[in-house]
Amino acid sequence: MSEINTFDEIDENLAVASKALGNLGGRRPEIALILGSGLGKLADELEDATCIPYTSIPHMKTSTTQSHVGQFVCGRFAGKEIIVMQGRLHGYEGNTSSEVAFPIRLLARLGVKTLIVTNAAGAINEAYEVGDFCIISDHINFTGRNPIVGVGSTQDFDRFFSMTAAYDPHYREVAHAIALQEKVQVHEGVYVGVLGPSFETPAEIKAFRSWGADVVGMSTVEEVIAARHMKMRVLGISLIANMAAGIGGASPDGEEVLDVARRQQDGFSRFLKGILPKL
Ligand code: HPA
Repeated sequence: MSEINTFDEIDENLAVASKALGNLGGRRPEIALILGSGLGKLADELEDATCIPYTSIPHMKTSTTQSHVGQFVCGRFAGKEIIVMQGRLHGYEGNTSSEVAFPIRLLARLGVKTLIVTNAAGAINEAYEVGDFCIISDHINFTGRNPIVGVGSTQDFDRFFSMTAAYDPHYREVAHAIALQEKVQVHEGVYVGVLGPSFETPAEIKAFRSWGADVVGMSTVEEVIAARHMKMRVLGISLIANMAAGIGGASPDGEEVLDVARRQQDGFSRFLKGILPKL
């Protein structure tokens, strides 16, 4: 897929891809969940699950990151029919913005109305601690890319669309209420999305802090732009996997990120189990 795609081209590919997904065994999930680095195990908790590898879907790229499985899992979780992306596509893997957005567009086409994006992130805000969760209130797209580039307005979707309240205010309230109930340590803050794969320099983290960013990561922003373009409602949750570069002398590394995420899987699963029935 080239960097620039008109919506007609994208739509043709989506038609082929959604056929490959079949009718999801007659299921009609309205909620999709993208599992971030180290958080993929939650997909194993789905009841009556059907797995569809990304490699079986025409026009879709697959995950190349060791911690991302690379399949859709459709099944029941917390009493809801959901579809999970067990592994996401990152820009740093060499995927174009359009390729990163493709599964989101596919989910919208399949009738998904709500997207829950999760990720492991570094904390810029010094009040945050490793293992805490951050409900994303807003984002700064510092990837230098945007999946809507080249996509003209269509009957259903505008080229120019609002990114105000992109992270649904009602969903954020629900997440706070569940965190209180489940005694999960949460914050609410701004996520700055970078392309990666190098971690940031301490100078970059200082700059991001001065812009109002609380957490930093290498995903999410392009997915959320694509989701809002197609009018999906979005909830974003970051797991604080490390302090960002330079904070208290921190120098993040990939193994640390995965270790923390894996250790927080149970809390994460409890948190989501509480949230899902309320969306
Ligand atoms: N920076 C960017 N991406 C990340 C980080 C970080 O510190 N931690 C987890 N993903």
